[in-house]
Amino acid sequence: MAKALILGGATGLLGQALQRVLTARGWQAETLGRADGNLQDMAFLESRLAAVDADVVFNAVAWTQVDEAEEHPEEALLVNRTLPDALARILKARGRGHLVHFSTDFVFSGPRQQPWTEEDAPHPASVYGRTKLAGEEAVLRGLPERACVVRTAWLFGPGRKNFVETILEACRRRDAISVVHDQTGSPTYSLDLAQWSVDLAEKQATGIWHAVNGGQASWCELACEAIALTASPCRVEPVASAQWPQKAQRPAYSVLDTGKLSEFLGKKPRPWPQALRDFLFSEYVPGAQPGSEGAR
Ligand SMILES: NC(=O)c1ccc[n+]([C@@H]2O[C@H](COP(=O)([O-])OP(=O)(O)OC[C@H]3O[C@@H](n4cnc5c(N)ncnc54)[C@H](OP(=O)(O)O)[C@@H]3O)[C@@H](O)[C@H]2O)c1
Repeated sequence: MAKALILGGATGLLGQALQRVLTARGWQAETLGRADGNLQDMAFLESRLAAVDADVVFNAVAWTQVDEAEEHPEEALLVNRTLPDALARILKARGRGHLVHFSTDFVFSGPRQQPWTEEDAPHPASVYGRTKLAGEEAVLRGLPERACVVRTAWLFGPGRKNFVETILEACRRRDAISVVHDQTGSPTYSLDLAQWSVDLAEKQATGIWHAVNGGQASWCELACEAIALTASPCRVEPVASAQWPQKAQRPAYSVLDTGKLSEFLGKKPRPWPQALRDFLFSEYVPGAQPGSEGAR
């Protein structure tokens, strides 16, 4: 039986999805997080990695609060670069264990009208994006032969509050909500992402991979679809980003190209509206999800 260690597996949106998928696929999966000890303590990290001796380490820990990162760049860097760097170094020294590390569409910015590929040069416009890019580079530099970076985007799913949940919660309290219409990205179901990530891990994939559901949407379109599917009477008022000032700059267009992943899987990732229906009809429990909202 293959063994996995999931950083963030007990509490993170993606971490919990990985834990579910790995267990369902017959892996032995252990989690590691804040509650177990200080992940910034190299000796602690080394001892946990040695004790578990996993075939694959999934790093789903990240500083995901995009706006707060602007005011806490050092702390964000510790989680988003120093931790994955340490994981790559420890696995290198151990001579065993594959690393699957997660990153973001926010490594991109600038004018664009077609999906970003793995070959495109990243250019992050926020502290969050810069620290995540630094984490990617550390992992691929430190363990190129046994690590992959999976870039994803706009996650929704069970287990922790996310954009879709936040919107539906707001609609239970209000008749109308305002949602940004001029940022376009790739909504993605955490459980689909977990499946693709385990597929990549089982084939010991290396390098960078873009892993998102098919299609694209603005935040406004994603909100409208979720509201329509739950038959909420809430009205959506589209607003421009300029009318909705946030500390961190977000890319206007961050759709990710999944040609490389599709070739690997032998099929295209399913469209996001289909995945959203799956989430809302079979997983979503109103008001049940703890954790931070608006995480990216
Ligand atoms: N969510 C999105 O829309 C999105 C979009 C693009 C990329 N991504 C990437 O996908 C990956 C997973 O994101 P996610 O949405 O699953 O994140 P999440 O739900 O916010 O979970 C983050 C995890 O990291 C842990 N963590 C944060 N700081 C920590 C620290 N100092 N020490 C120990 N644990 C710490 C959290 O633990 P606690 O619960 O204890 O805080 C939690 O388990 C990340 O690499 C993220 O950058 C996410």
